[in-house]
Amino acid sequence: MAALRLGDTAPNFSAKTTEGEITFHEWLGDKWGVLFSHPADFTPVCTTELGMVAKLKDEFEKRNVKVMGLSIDPLDSHEVWIKDINETQNTTVNFPMIADDDKYVSTLYDMIHPNADDKLTVRSVFVIGPDKKVKLTLTYPASTGRNFFEILRAIDSLQLTADYKVATPVNWNDGDDCIIVNSISDEDAVKKFPKGFVKVKPYLRVTPQPNK
Ligand code: BEZ
Repeated sequence: MAALRLGDTAPNFSAKTTEGEITFHEWLGDKWGVLFSHPADFTPVCTTELGMVAKLKDEFEKRNVKVMGLSIDPLDSHEVWIKDINETQNTTVNFPMIADDDKYVSTLYDMIHPNADDKLTVRSVFVIGPDKKVKLTLTYPASTGRNFFEILRAIDSLQLTADYKVATPVNWNDGDDCIIVNSISDEDAVKKFPKGFVKVKPYLRVTPQPNK
């Protein structure tokens, strides 16, 4: 399976999860999605990551995003491990985790990188838009836990830039100034950005975030 690229359709699948059998596209409906893999159940970094995703449920919901995890461990293993996550991370896992023991979904999404580990999934993240297209991918190795605040921040940028002709600069956070895309002329920018803009260079025009 070739690696998925930005703009590709996120492949549909049906899978066993901790919340029953799910058909991915149907489950997503018209929402945004985050599909992420972790290497294995009963491992320390994964335990902290999944606890954090559970704690951030409201933040994902605020952004109209549904989240689903995956590892190649079986369902009974996930169910026992979730009790440990809830206990040690002081939370309640509140999103489905795929039991991909036949490696169907991890192969479909190229989540096993044999030169890193020939058996376990790496830490992949796919952010999927309401049009089912892949909007962002991330790949971290097993030894490096992800920063889910960064994933939320990136979703803020993806959602803003889907609706407005702006891009978000380095270290941008929701509410910060944005950059007007270069396909917009100065004349159009005056009309589209009533809060005004600063022309630092012809190619660098800064405007207050348009939807704030
Ligand atoms: C962890 O989640 O801690 C982990 C998983 C697989 C390999 C190394 C670390």
